[in-house]
Formats: sequence, structure tokens, C-alpha cells
Amino acid sequence: MSTRYRLIELLADGQFRSGEWLGRQLGISRAAVWKHMRVFSDFGLDIHAVPGQGYRLFTPFQPLSADLIRSPLSASVSSRLDSLEVLREIDSTSEYLKRTRSQHKASGFRACVAERQSSGRGRRGRRWVSPYGTNLYLSLAMQLSKASLRSGGLSLAAAVAVLRALQDCEIADLGVKWPNDIFYQERKIAGILLDLSGESSGPFFVVLGIGINLKMPESAAREIDQPWADLSQCGVKVDRNHLAGTILEALVQAIDTFGEKGLEAFIDEWNEFDLLSGRAVELHYDKQPMITGIARGIDANGAILIEKNGVTSRFNAGEVSVRVA
Ligand code: BTN
Repeated sequence: MSTRYRLIELLADGQFRSGEWLGRQLGISRAAVWKHMRVFSDFGLDIHAVPGQGYRLFTPFQPLSADLIRSPLSASVSSRLDSLEVLREIDSTSEYLKRTRSQHKASGFRACVAERQSSGRGRRGRRWVSPYGTNLYLSLAMQLSKASLRSGGLSLAAAVAVLRALQDCEIADLGVKWPNDIFYQERKIAGILLDLSGESSGPFFVVLGIGINLKMPESAAREIDQPWADLSQCGVKVDRNHLAGTILEALVQAIDTFGEKGLEAFIDEWNEFDLLSGRAVELHYDKQPMITGIARGIDANGAILIEKNGVTSRFNAGEVSVRVA
């Protein structure tokens, strides 16, 4: 691990550490410690520097560890996870798995998590704000046959898996906003990004990217352009590594079920979590309002059903976005 990341981990518990002590641990000068501190604010880390006391992190964090993430996994899921990498810093965990696709075996899964993403991607070309050490940025790659993807809706099944994992960690009052945004009290707390690539004849290479806000530092929060929430507001103390493992377990199991039965196996549960059902919504196409109506859940392919003047129409996620009217 580079000096910079060792330095961050020495501050992870949120206690004050003097520049001299930090320098001694790392074999660098106090001036070099101070130079690193200046870079940390670009990482979204809020550093508190007090003359005579030293430095501390405003938001303590628990460093990610592959061993701790693996510990809640069942033996069968763990054996199928060919690699689980902890990255300190990366552009995007999903891009990383795509770039290293040649390491992928035909069956099996590869996963990675990162402490920070410099270019975290959201849906619809948005940015996913990904400061160091506080939230969860996780991607899972696999190959799936074209047949198993036929019904569409894999990202909706993944949303159900993430909701199950969050419930296992005793986080309540969560819901899903079509197609796969996870909300807490009308504010987005987690998002899912699905990347599919492949030849029409062969299997698809699939990367599921999951971003969950655990504790958003103030400086990073200012960059988010939509109402957001984080798990610290849900009143539950969450162990990041345990949560990452619980999510991986739920995702792999959900992907198996999806491969066998398609979205059908998830529709009832998805509908139970549906935040829009029965509410007046406005659909947008290319950012322009297109239709308003009442949301009536999803169909077998994951399309949203909208009722207007007694007629129900379906719309696909790739084409439209939805807002509460
Ligand atoms: C959304 O816009 O709702 C999707 C957000 C997905 C963010 C995650 S974080 C891990 C993975 N890497 C990325 O660059 N994006 C996804």
C-alpha cells in the first residue's frame, strides 16, 4: 500500500494524530505529511487540522478488507467468486472490471470494491459522487447467456437483492423507485448501474455496479444534484465490510434465480417495495415531459405500467425516466 493510503488508514479512527507521530510511522517528514493532507481534500476527505493537536478525520471510517467482506459469504458463493479486489482508488469499479475482462473465466464471478472513485458513473450519464472511505462502491462481473437475459429486468432483480441485503442489516423504511433507485424517505440512498456487452451470438458480459451512501461527508454532499440520504440517517450503525459481503451474497443468489426463472421470481417483492405505486407520476423522454398518469407497478419485463384515462400503457427503462407529478 502506498504511503498516502497508509496515512489515511492511520487517521481512519477519527482521533487526532500529530504530524510528527504520523511522519514517524511512515518514515516521512512532517512537511511531507502536510503535503499529503492537502491532497486528501480532493479525495472528499474532510480533515480537521488543529495546531498543537495534529490532524483528524471529521468522518472516521472502517477500511475495506477482502477477508472481512468474504466472511458473511456462504461457502458456495465464496467458491464461485473467482476474485474480490479491494482498490484504494479507481476511476470506476465497473470500468475496472470491464477493462480487465480478459481475466474473466466463463463461469464464476469477479467483484471489486473501492475506497474512492474518481469518475464514478451513474445512470443516464450522471456522475456518482464517490468520496474516499465512507460509502460503498461495488461492482460484480459475470457472463450470462442471452437466453437468461431475454426477459430484461436484471437490474430490477438486483434492486430486490440489494434491498434484501439492507434489510438483513436491519435497515428499514427503504423502497424502490422505478426502475432500480433505492430510496429512504423520498431521498436516494443507493443506485444500480447495469453494463451489458457482447456479441449477438455469444454470452453477454454483465457488470452490475452498486453505489450505497453510508456516510456522505459535507464537502462531497455539495456536489450531489438530487435529494439524497445516507445510511447514517437511518439510525443504524453499519459495518461496511459486512454490508458489502451481504450484498454480494444476495446478488449472486438473485442472479442464479434470475437465470432460472427471469424477473417473474422478483415481481411480487419488487412491487412490495414500489414507492410509486398508485401515485401520480410524470414520464420524461429525453428530459421532456411526455405523459402523466398513475403508476401501476411493473410488467414481466420490468417496464413501468402507467394508467391514464382508464388505459394502461407500458414504458421501458432505457427510454423514459419518471418523476412524482
Ligand atoms: C445510479 O445512477 O443510480 C447508478 C449509480 C451506480 C453507482 C455505482 S458505484 C459502483 C459502480 N461504479 C460506478 O462507476 N458506478 C457504479
